[in-house]
Amino acid sequence: MEKNEKVIVDPWGKELVQDYTRLIKEFGMKAFDASIFPHPNLQMRRGVNFGGQDLDLIAKAINDAKPFYCLTGIMPSSEKIHLGTETVIQNVKYFQDMGAKTYVLIADVESQATRQVPIEEGKRRALEFHIPAYIALGLDAKKTNFYFQSENKAVSNLAAVCAQKVTENEFRAIYGSVHPAKVISAFTQMADILHPQLGEPMPGVIPVGIDQAPHIRMARDIARRLHTEYGFFAPSAIYHKYTSALDGSFKMSKSSDEIGKVEIPENDPKALEKKINKAFTGGRVTKEEQRAKGGQPEICVVFEYCQNHFIKDDNTLKNMFEECKGGKNLCGECKAKYGLPYAKKFFEEFNEKFMNAKKEVAKMNIGKE
Ligand code: TRP
Ligand code: SF4
Repeated sequence: MEKNEKVIVDPWGKELVQDYTRLIKEFGMKAFDASIFPHPNLQMRRGVNFGGQDLDLIAKAINDAKPFYCLTGIMPSSEKIHLGTETVIQNVKYFQDMGAKTYVLIADVESQATRQVPIEEGKRRALEFHIPAYIALGLDAKKTNFYFQSENKAVSNLAAVCAQKVTENEFRAIYGSVHPAKVISAFTQMADILHPQLGEPMPGVIPVGIDQAPHIRMARDIARRLHTEYGFFAPSAIYHKYTSALDGSFKMSKSSDEIGKVEIPENDPKALEKKINKAFTGGRVTKEEQRAKGGQPEICVVFEYCQNHFIKDDNTLKNMFEECKGGKNLCGECKAKYGLPYAKKFFEEFNEKFMNAKKEVAKMNIGKE
């Protein structure tokens, strides 16, 4: 990309911009500062969250025990969920624990429009797997408002209001084109993001991957344009980094189907082992070199997964890092000591909690008016 070329991030595209620092500037974000939050979570402490907008407002609401909300949405675009979705859910859980009114929506309208997933199919996936999975990953079922875009009247009505506030040229400048499927998805998302403020305007934080930055930009513009009429606060956002594919080469791209990836759940331990074993690492060409110079956890996918997902204890992660850097472990040894056992533990714990979460969801009335 040329130096002065405008950054257009396409939320529905495969390729993503490589450079987080440039994005921070281009989108008027701030580098993420974990110190403003009480008891920062793993994603905050370990730099998985790298940027944000108006997060001071949220920190202030937490500290003053004032009302605020946290909302995110996930498309039911496949049966399983991405490892990266765990990051979003952990961020939502953090704000939920800090007192946020919490909303997690199933973006079934968007996945119908942009991925051709029939609404009924999206709903089935969400009820059978996605929603119980979010609960198994830590959300409090009783304190989370789950909803389907297709069934939320307040959202579809507000989408029509939001659509009045943006011109065709503005839409094109933000999203790169005015494709009808993009238009319907984007305005539905604007309404998702703003509708919790319909009763009582309040700050809100939207945890998302960086590919969603264009949506946040437009939502903030629309909130300002609707301020007089609705009193909306411009939504705050917290951005997390992308999860690498197993081969490490598509660092910034959404995991595409050709590249191996670890998903949730991984129920076959043999298959999981194979994946970890073939993952791209920061190992050196020869044993001798690795013992002498140490490995490079900074570029290692196994380390990334452990850091961002599998190893919850900071000391254990520190040991993994230092043993790699110091040449104490070759990659095989490191995978046997850290990568594999902690991956297995992660999925075992998930499966255990998932069974209970499924029972809980069966008793809930999600999507039934
Ligand atoms: N566009 C999001 C995705 O691609 C899903 C989504 C819909 C969303 N509405 C939202 C995300 C509101 C955050 C806030 O997965
Ligand atoms: Fe990655 Fe471990 Fe190899 Fe280091 S020793 S590069 S952390 S697999």
